Amino acid sequence: MPRQLPDASTPMHALISSRLSRRCVIGGLATLPLLSLAEGHATAPNGGLTFSSVAATQADVVTVPAGYRAQTLIAWGDPLFDNVPAFDPASVTRADQELRFGQNNDMLALFPEQYAFPSPAAQSTFLMCVNHEYVEPSLVFPGLHALSEVTSEHVEAIIAAHGVSVVRVTRDAQGAWRVLRDVAPGAGLNRRITPNTPVIFDGAAANHRWVRAATSAWNATTPSPVAGAVACGTIANCAGGQTPWGTYLTAEENFDGYFSLSALGPEMETAQADAAWMWASGSFGTPLFSPARARLSPPRFNVAKAPYTPALYGWVVEIDPYDPTWTPRKRTSLGRAKHECATTALARDGRVVVYSGDDQINEFVYKFVSQEKFNPADRTANRDLLNAGQLYAAKFNADGTGQWLALTVDGANAAAAGYTAPFTDAGDVAIRCREAARLMGATPMDRPEDVEAILDSNWVGRGSVLIVCTNNRNEQPPRPGNPAREKAPGDDPAQGANLAGHILKLEEAGGDCASTRFHWDVFALAGDPSAASPVADTPNAGFAHVSVKLNGRPTISGDRFACPDNICFDAQQNVWIATDGAPAVFGDCNDAVMVTPTSGLGPRAMKRFLVGPVGCEICGPTMAPDQKAFLVAIQHPGEADLSGNAYADIRWRTGRTPPSSFPDGGSAWPRSAIVVVTRVDGGVVGA
Ligand code: FEO
Ligand code: CA
Ligand code: CA
Ligand code: CA
Repeated sequence: MPRQLPDASTPMHALISSRLSRRCVIGGLATLPLLSLAEGHATAPNGGLTFSSVAATQADVVTVPAGYRAQTLIAWGDPLFDNVPAFDPASVTRADQELRFGQNNDMLALFPEQYAFPSPAAQSTFLMCVNHEYVEPSLVFPGLHALSEVTSEHVEAIIAAHGVSVVRVTRDAQGAWRVLRDVAPGAGLNRRITPNTPVIFDGAAANHRWVRAATSAWNATTPSPVAGAVACGTIANCAGGQTPWGTYLTAEENFDGYFSLSALGPEMETAQADAAWMWASGSFGTPLFSPARARLSPPRFNVAKAPYTPALYGWVVEIDPYDPTWTPRKRTSLGRAKHECATTALARDGRVVVYSGDDQINEFVYKFVSQEKFNPADRTANRDLLNAGQLYAAKFNADGTGQWLALTVDGANAAAAGYTAPFTDAGDVAIRCREAARLMGATPMDRPEDVEAILDSNWVGRGSVLIVCTNNRNEQPPRPGNPAREKAPGDDPAQGANLAGHILKLEEAGGDCASTRFHWDVFALAGDPSAASPVADTPNAGFAHVSVKLNGRPTISGDRFACPDNICFDAQQNVWIATDGAPAVFGDCNDAVMVTPTSGLGPRAMKRFLVGPVGCEICGPTMAPDQKAFLVAIQHPGEADLSGNAYADIRWRTGRTPPSSFPDGGSAWPRSAIVVVTRVDGGVVGA
């Protein structure tokens, strides 16, 4: 049979389509050692999940199954220290916000109060790290009547609500959780890391010319109190990860929106002669000329005189929650991207693997494999493991195989013979990894969000990795937007969008996360297992393809869902899936948490475990080590109303109050919050 592989840069949609059509022709997958649930005939086990699914709801609360309770642990503005006055969102300042939990909590991680490896299951007190992704201007400063009333003081308070919070939390014998405030900053481990905190650039690109130009410009206006550091902190953090040596990885994602360009001058003209920089600016969306952009952007984010400033961001940042004296590190060897996550697994030989998705349409999935091995007996020796190693980008083949392309100077330059901007060294490849990956033939993806390996109790990856693709709103001719989906009669088979999203699964060769080869397949197509038609109307008067069938067979059963985003695994290898944007597909339910087993064959039995309040997305799903508590970050409650209208489009025009009052209720202003879910009888969550 003639075999025609798509070219190296064929997007994921087209590969799924190609693979499916080959399946149709070949008639089965007996030769593929996978995975594919659609191909299986056995019923997937229920993973021990015995709770009763939560019904779809638009209630402005966190809804959990019968026999469970949800408790707000901490919300935007709650103090981390004693003697901090009650929070008033109308009058918060930078100095005030630096003493409080930030806004729009995203990824959260629990560390044992005392570091131990492996981490003990029985713990009652934790160091909780939470990052704060962004601030929606319409959801802060109640009392303002127009964006024009926003002052530079307001902007600095907003900036200080970004970054990371480290906060000690504890639970009592009844399963009630609470924050342990410190007496004052510096008295304990509670702290805020903001976009003003000193950080050190480390790894392959630490001395790259762009980083040097950016840091010297930043230091000239905003000097760092720490020698060798830059007071640019971290911003636009989405998900992240934890390391086995007890540090927190937080991933900088949509940093582009913070930058403005007030005027074109000689500095920008010089930068525009740098072909690689121009390529990066176009790729990330940092301003080339946008005087009106980002009215809320502070002056130090104006690139008119300092064009390379955006190079300060787009990194994975490592923070040691146990040691506030250790300056956070930007781990440049992991590449510069819109990193959604930075999840870790140990390879079979003890090297450290970090997976990351670049959450922008048609960007890539990356992994980094450290040069040295994790040493469980020496925590300090591990802290710089992420500086030296190899960065890879994933290439998916149509036959279900795949490879991790090593992004090296020689590899990138060989793939780009005659290129106007050849790569000069490993740091140049790291900071330009999007460009290198594209040149070398990595597969463009549908907004990969979480990329996470299943680990054993010693943090060793078993080789199975899920890649969660939230959605793709673009109609993408000539390829199908979501070719894995069943089409309706009359649909153009050659294009479409993928509004509901999907989840892929990799099996690393040899069950080793350091392997350079893998098999891949579709784990689940999000949508409606009960859909009468492959196409359903959406609340915004559009439509979405919601069939969950792959090659004619359903990939999931049970409760419908859309827009999978961040995930975690429990000890039974069930995957807990938080959604972001599902109400735009299924208008009867707010964003939710779904759970399904990862093992077994047959359609995945999806169960809805939790539904968030109005207008939120759900982030940071995390299981406590003893599995007697499940934590989530409720982000941006009130950002949209029940009809899907953005509050940003409503507030300044109508003066209406936000469409959510979560978590305080009544007439309260909405606040993002961390919520703990426990069983009323104190048992294992989900069981
Ligand atoms: Fe911040 Fe990729 O969502
Ligand atoms: Ca996310
Ligand atoms: Ca996760
Ligand atoms: Ca998201």
